[in-house]
Amino acid sequence: MTSLCYFVTPLTTTMALKSVLITGCSAGGIGSALAEAFQRRDMHVFATARDPSKMSHLGKLPNVTLLTLDPTSTASVEASVERIKAETSGTLDYLVNNAGQTIIMPTLDFDIENAKSMYDINV
Ligand SMILES: NC(=O)c1ccc[n+]([C@@H]2O[C@H](COP(=O)([O-])OP(=O)(O)OC[C@H]3O[C@@H](n4cnc5c(N)ncnc54)[C@H](OP(=O)(O)O)[C@@H]3O)[C@@H](O)[C@H]2O)c1
Repeated sequence: MTSLCYFVTPLTTTMALKSVLITGCSAGGIGSALAEAFQRRDMHVFATARDPSKMSHLGKLPNVTLLTLDPTSTASVEASVERIKAETSGTLDYLVNNAGQTIIMPTLDFDIENAKSMYDINV
């Protein structure tokens, strides 16, 4: 009598997950909601915020990596890039540049320094 034995390996252990980096993932915001939505779709989520304590709720989820990232700090951006390169072998699939601020007022009333600061964060 011949017996056959098949070993079925889940795809997720043999194929790298798609990856996404989302900035500005503080609890209650759009970045946090996107992080949860992508994680539910079996992606590796790199969730970032300038204050990591604001996204601790995401740290409990599988395939979510929390990184401290301030988009206005070159050193902070470079450190995150190196970490993500190492974890994805340089194959990050998506970037959601979500961290940002909004100023709602007539343009003539803008404080130019505040406007520059908003531009640096958002762009
Ligand atoms: N909600 C809306 O109706 C709406 C409308 C138009 C555009 N947007 C844009 O959509 C994005 C998300 O909106 P949201 O409502 O989820 O905003 P939110 O709750 O205020 O979240 C914004 C995220 O950006 C981060 N952030 C703000 N200023 C930063 C800075 N100087 N350096 C680093 N990180 C900074 C915040 O970090 P902290 O928690 O540390 O501040 C937070 O993680 C923002 O870019 C916003 O401008 C939103």
